[in-house]
Amino acid sequence: MQSPIEKLGSNIITTLGNDDGLSALSRRGFLAMTATLASCSAAAPLPPQGSAAAPVKTKPNTAYRTPPVQGPVPRNPDGNHSSNFSKDGGITYSRVLVSGNYVAMTFDDGPHPQNTPRLLDMLRARNIKATFYVIGRSVDLYPNVVRRTVAEGHEIGNHTHTHRLLSKLGMDDVRQEISRCRDAIVRAAGVQPRTMRPPYGGMLQTQREMVFKEFGNPCILWSVDPLDWKRPGPGVVSSRILSGTTAGSIILAHDLHSQTVDAMPAAMDGLLKRGFRFVTVSQLLAMKMDSAAATAQTSDAAAPAH
Ligand code: NI
Repeated sequence: MQSPIEKLGSNIITTLGNDDGLSALSRRGFLAMTATLASCSAAAPLPPQGSAAAPVKTKPNTAYRTPPVQGPVPRNPDGNHSSNFSKDGGITYSRVLVSGNYVAMTFDDGPHPQNTPRLLDMLRARNIKATFYVIGRSVDLYPNVVRRTVAEGHEIGNHTHTHRLLSKLGMDDVRQEISRCRDAIVRAAGVQPRTMRPPYGGMLQTQREMVFKEFGNPCILWSVDPLDWKRPGPGVVSSRILSGTTAGSIILAHDLHSQTVDAMPAAMDGLLKRGFRFVTVSQLLAMKMDSAAATAQTSDAAAPAH
């Protein structure tokens, strides 16, 4: 059967053929051109989505549907905050001394093919940028989710490749866990993680020093833990986050669990209404005040109350 383009080509030639001035050479030229067009259109079926950029195979998440936005939600204000934190500031953080009402929301153990995209929609609606401590093994399974996370302005941190308790491992195994996760993140999204979080928060001081020296990643723990992995229900998760958060908090949650994601609208809207502003972990670290400035500011702020 003639393809539409071949048909078009022969129509052109038929039309032009009526023109006495058309030479045989020009006709051959047209035939060659139409053959090229036909083969281009026939030989180029669209590649499967993402195959050009991703060396890793992934299954499309056909079950996921974007939920409808229900009414207006509070919006985190835009902030042009630097992510370039000083490497002299320390090797381990569980919170950061900052002068504004800034907090960092962190999500561990993803990416998850359904829960992470659902969370990304919630964050996007509120203009909130968060930090995702991903497991390298899952990054290899769902690289598209990580790509979207990065494309929407979130930060990716290293949460090891297989989520083992690092304090039980030798130095070489720790190095492997960190480098394999880093490589998976780079393969999937083309970015290097700036910080790392040890699974279960368990990491020896010597291991933290090695990772900081060799990978440049400080160890990020947390100051607010809603224990969402125990699945106490979305209401409990959000109220624990609201009651525990203060300026400079690093909030721990897990986008692996659907209940945690269910808790996020109330938690995030509640924090925004209380005047908290969300930044990524690197941005929070970059805001760190030196202790002298912090002491001066604290005494200034505290003076009227006494
Ligand atoms: Ni974890």
